[in-house]
Amino acid sequence: MCGIVGYIGTEEAAPVLLDGLDKLEYRGYDSAGIAVFDGEKIQVAKARGRLKVLNEMTHGGEKLPGNCGIGHTRWATHGIPSDKNAHPHFNETESIAVVHNGIIENYLKLKKLLQEKGYKFTSETDTEVVAHLLDYYYKGDPLEAIIRTMRRVDGSYALGIMFQEHPGKLFAVRKDSPLIAGKGKNGNLIASDVPAVLKYTRDVYFIQNEEIVCLEADELNFYNIDGEPIRKEAVTIQWDVSAAEKAGYEHFMLKEIYEQPKAVLDTLNPRIREGRIEIEELGMSDDEIRAIKKIYIVACGSAYHTGVSAKYVFEGLARIPVEVDLASEFRYRNPILDPETLLIVVSQSGETADTLAALREAKQRGVRTLGIVNVVGSSIAREADNVMYTWAGPEIAVATTKAYSTQLIAEYLLAMKFAQVKGTVSTAEMDEMIQELKQLPVHIEMLLDHKEKIQRFANRYIAAKDIFFIGRGIDYAISLEGSLKLKEISYIHSEAYPAGELKHGTISLIEEGTLVAAVLTQEELYKKMISNMVEVKTRGAFLLAVTNVGNTEVEKAADYVIYIPKTHKYFTNSLAVIPLQLFGYYVALGKGCDVDKPRNLAKSVTVE
Ligand code: G6P
Repeated sequence: MCGIVGYIGTEEAAPVLLDGLDKLEYRGYDSAGIAVFDGEKIQVAKARGRLKVLNEMTHGGEKLPGNCGIGHTRWATHGIPSDKNAHPHFNETESIAVVHNGIIENYLKLKKLLQEKGYKFTSETDTEVVAHLLDYYYKGDPLEAIIRTMRRVDGSYALGIMFQEHPGKLFAVRKDSPLIAGKGKNGNLIASDVPAVLKYTRDVYFIQNEEIVCLEADELNFYNIDGEPIRKEAVTIQWDVSAAEKAGYEHFMLKEIYEQPKAVLDTLNPRIREGRIEIEELGMSDDEIRAIKKIYIVACGSAYHTGVSAKYVFEGLARIPVEVDLASEFRYRNPILDPETLLIVVSQSGETADTLAALREAKQRGVRTLGIVNVVGSSIAREADNVMYTWAGPEIAVATTKAYSTQLIAEYLLAMKFAQVKGTVSTAEMDEMIQELKQLPVHIEMLLDHKEKIQRFANRYIAAKDIFFIGRGIDYAISLEGSLKLKEISYIHSEAYPAGELKHGTISLIEEGTLVAAVLTQEELYKKMISNMVEVKTRGAFLLAVTNVGNTEVEKAADYVIYIPKTHKYFTNSLAVIPLQLFGYYVALGKGCDVDKPRNLAKSVTVE
């Protein structure tokens, strides 16, 4: 969580910082701040609330002149969102300014030590410890102070640092929190993520753990934790700047919903060759694939939901037992891992703290690991034994849509690859599945064409108190995601239930008019689903059904039906989720919620 930026060059720093923070606001948005250095004095402005408060307060940055600065947008962990706790933080003489993304785990101990030495703290944050510690170790050499501080702090950090005694220099360092540096024409930058620098440069350096970068207006120098200079190669970012902008859509979420046909196609295309599934980046020989006896899929949030769906696909096609785990649970339950296990971690950002920790735990225990990741060069992408990228492009809205859809595709492809190698699926069925996969982008496009119909329906439910989603098998996995999409952005209480389980307690919550969304795409479960729908209907529920075209029987039980095109039974999630994403979006829009930045959330969750 939290986003950091920094700039040093020939332009005014404040507008560059505010612009960068705007691109990083998805990482946290309860307060923001900037510090700008004019060569003599470091001036600061910070404010609780969205970035626009800071923008107005500083007149778009005009009030803070200077060519060097750092900025921060916050998702509070230590200390409530307030002006006082907003970054940047300073040492007592305000000669050292710091912005931080991450958590200093031993901050209480360090704070006590520093207080005993007479240091006075003005905030409740863990970050302030870093500012005072830098002050404590600073004897004229900033690099030395940074290294000594790094050796004392435990936890995760990406830090941007300015020293008043060193005009013309800006420092940054990382451990376990993302950080990039960019080499621009009119100056150099640091940021938590690429979109913040794209306007100024496409040449970026991915800073690795325990590396330090010193930026000057026209050069960048890198050091390791021993202070030795190191060489790094810049990577040229290929995306278009517009990929990180709204391009005329009202929200990033809607734009990203509409990008799904392309994202799905981009993820599929490189892996289907001459009618066969080829996943080179898997790095496993056929014998190694055959030797895998068990798969764990470990992830958080929506990425976890794709795993719940993929379990059915893997087990059905490749006949390998799959356990799906929430990363925050997996890592503390001493899971049974042996050399015949494959651990798949799924993550859009590649930085989610729990998922990363689960990956490290598995690696430490000698298990083979594969990351399904969207952000190129992210921590999970670098640390997993192998990485399969989902080519969704940058996803900005906090509620994921296109990354989710591409994760599903990656998991289908993997399951099919395993089935292909193990010979558990006939060539005819494999051919049929490949044809169906190729049709998915077209089908998604068709579903998007019905957005007005879904918007009209959604507008009827903006005042709802509770909404339930039910399904069986893969339809339960779809329900989990439909329910999460709705609740995270509209703040309407919602639950997803396996349809057969409702009557063991939750059905008591159904009242006259309660909306129940039933997902029924699995033919062998239609009849059972219809019985479950009738159970809630007789208790007063209003029933929305999402089902395959042609399944008109459902109209007997449902009050409103959304039909999805026919596809292979294992791929229905990719289609049924589209109207549910749109439903969540339009309910939130109708309620006037901040769709792209729902309260209390952040896109990249780098704390446990
Ligand atoms: C946050 C996001 C979710 C996402 C989850 C896991 O909670 O809001 O949309 O599914 O993190 O993130 P990851 O980057 O690991 O996929």
